[in-house]
Amino acid sequence: MGGLRETVESIRKAAARSVSAASDEKSLEAARVEYLGRKGRIRDLMGLLAALPSHERAEAGKLINDLKDEITRAFDERRGAVAAGARKPAGPVFDVTLPGAKPRIGRVHPLTKATREIVDVFARIGFTAVFGPEVETVRNNFEALNMPLDHPSRDAFDTFFVKGRQDLVLRSHTSPVQIRAMLASKPPLRIVVPGRTYRPDTVDATHSFMFHQVEGLVVDTHITMADLKYCLDMFAKGYFGPGARTRFRPHYFPFTEPSAEMDVSCIFCGGQGCRICKKGWLEILGCGMVHPNVFRAVGYDPEKYTGFAFGMGVERPCMMKHGVNDLRLFFENDIRFLDQF
Ligand code: DAH
Repeated sequence: MGGLRETVESIRKAAARSVSAASDEKSLEAARVEYLGRKGRIRDLMGLLAALPSHERAEAGKLINDLKDEITRAFDERRGAVAAGARKPAGPVFDVTLPGAKPRIGRVHPLTKATREIVDVFARIGFTAVFGPEVETVRNNFEALNMPLDHPSRDAFDTFFVKGRQDLVLRSHTSPVQIRAMLASKPPLRIVVPGRTYRPDTVDATHSFMFHQVEGLVVDTHITMADLKYCLDMFAKGYFGPGARTRFRPHYFPFTEPSAEMDVSCIFCGGQGCRICKKGWLEILGCGMVHPNVFRAVGYDPEKYTGFAFGMGVERPCMMKHGVNDLRLFFENDIRFLDQF
């Protein structure tokens, strides 16, 4: 029995060494067969039992069985560790041949783009872009522009007033920036004013409570209607293409005299008349010679200076240029729409 105990002990130590020395599945399996196989060392030990006196057999059997369990467990554990090690990549832990993760690149909103294109055409002929606030005084938005209290667009239904104030509105056009620019400097003046404007219109395919305009103003000595026509015709050709023709129709605006609306020959049919333009012309902007009362409001001498002004929407020409049929698409922030520009 004492001899058996020693043998069990030495097999336990040898097995432990073999287990930890096995570095792959193949050597581990070879070691397992050596100890636990049908002709293995545990089996040999079992063979010795028969030679023992019967009263020692039970104890010796338990000794050998415990050893067998212990070695089996050691092999199982080691097999798990070896398999996990085999799964670990030897080289870098990422695949350098995979395509990179593309960051989503934003783009300029179509209306911002259209505004910049319009401003750029004027910049080329010497205009400077200036900006004004969207919350504006009633004086700049109306009075200084020769729009008296009884003017219909001053009705609360036609303008957003700031709550609790009778002197502040969300500007209903970019024209008040004419006043700001003239108060801020002396003639000559050659400016364009891009920006947002607000009117309480019900939203539909062609109306929005917020929309964009580009205003223009030229003041100097000897500015005439001929300058206005030449400049705006040049703009039409610069923005819509060299084939664009223009026509001016008499109109009324309180801040200009005389006043006109300018139409551009339809960019789709070239002036024949089509589904989009109806009669060959597209209405683009309002314009005119600055009214003497506007000059008086900013302290310019109307006997000395003359000038012309114009104002155009941004949404409509942009819709026309890109064949967009619903204004609301610009403001819904749907990436599928915006991605196309
Ligand atoms: N402010 C006008 C509007 O919102 C547009 C306009 C017309 C501006 C004639 C001008 C102008 O400067 O001379 O409808």
